[in-house]
Amino acid sequence: MSIEKIGVLGCGLMGAGIAQVCAQAGLPTIVREIDQKFIDNGFGIIEKNVQKAVDKGKISQQDKGAMWDKLKGTLELEDLKECDLIIEAVIENLELKNEMFSKLDKMCPEKTILASNTSSLTVMAMAASTNRPDRFCGLHFFNPVPVMQLVEVVNTIATSRETTETCVDFCKKIGKKAILAKDKSGFIVNRLLIPYLLDAIKVFEEGLASAEDIDTGMKLGLNYPMGPLTLLDFVGLDTTYNIANIMFEEFREQRFAPPPLLKKMVLAGYYGRKSGKGFYDYSGDKPVPTDLGM
Ligand code: CAA
Repeated sequence: MSIEKIGVLGCGLMGAGIAQVCAQAGLPTIVREIDQKFIDNGFGIIEKNVQKAVDKGKISQQDKGAMWDKLKGTLELEDLKECDLIIEAVIENLELKNEMFSKLDKMCPEKTILASNTSSLTVMAMAASTNRPDRFCGLHFFNPVPVMQLVEVVNTIATSRETTETCVDFCKKIGKKAILAKDKSGFIVNRLLIPYLLDAIKVFEEGLASAEDIDTGMKLGLNYPMGPLTLLDFVGLDTTYNIANIMFEEFREQRFAPPPLLKKMVLAGYYGRKSGKGFYDYSGDKPVPTDLGM
């Protein structure tokens, strides 16, 4: 089966990025949100991204126009019922996700594949809320979606081979590299990334080195694009805390346990870049380490 029409649930950073790459690949894409202000905000992010690409001469004004012709926003779940593939990218709340999946399952034709961009929940726990677990999988994108090449295609024990193959083809169509992962919390990338990020917080907390030196160490010592504390601010400390808790719950292994400092920073509202403060303070011209009283 070929995927021609895409539905996206959620127009936050991930949903907007997914919608952008689908529309840029020429696929009619419709994004559903619960309030027009979220669509306006997400579409604002997309406009900024594509205008930057136009300014740099990477795409033409015509390409930008063609992308917007393919992209629509809606507040109605029902408007997604003609889609071949619906990708959910809302907050990591299983009940909320399942409520939407269950409704879509009833209104969509048999061919529609449902997918979740979850980064840590078990995909089968969502597939089970539908009557199409064979046409259900995980499609885990990375932030920033327009830049990051990878998508993890996650197979549950019930995902059909045809669904997997269709989704791998879809990833190719939108210019992404698909890798296959089993339905275990964190899949491949977060299974390895989250303990690394948590370890960086632990060594900072124990006073091994300053935030800047920890970041510089991993950036220049290993050629990583960002040091771990900068990456934590980028991903969001609240998001990481949530993922770590889900993974700790799943595996009961100490390496997934969120360190006390992470919890305290989330409690203080230090979510990273999105709140203006995390391991670094983003209120000035350039980020400076936050005084955490360490
Ligand atoms: N959205 C769209 N495009 C963006 C962007 C954004 N938020 N940020 C940067 N870009 C683009 C820039 O426009 C630029 O494009 P061109 O090459 O076409 O000019 C390119 O990316 C490079 O950007 P910059 O020169 O401004 O900055 P940089 O070289 O420092 O790169 C970065 C920025 C791409 C974010 C890079 O630092 C990076 O790759 N960081 C690591 C990101 C990462 O690890 N992401 C995964 C997070 S984990 C995750 O998402 C999974 C999960 O479940 C938690």
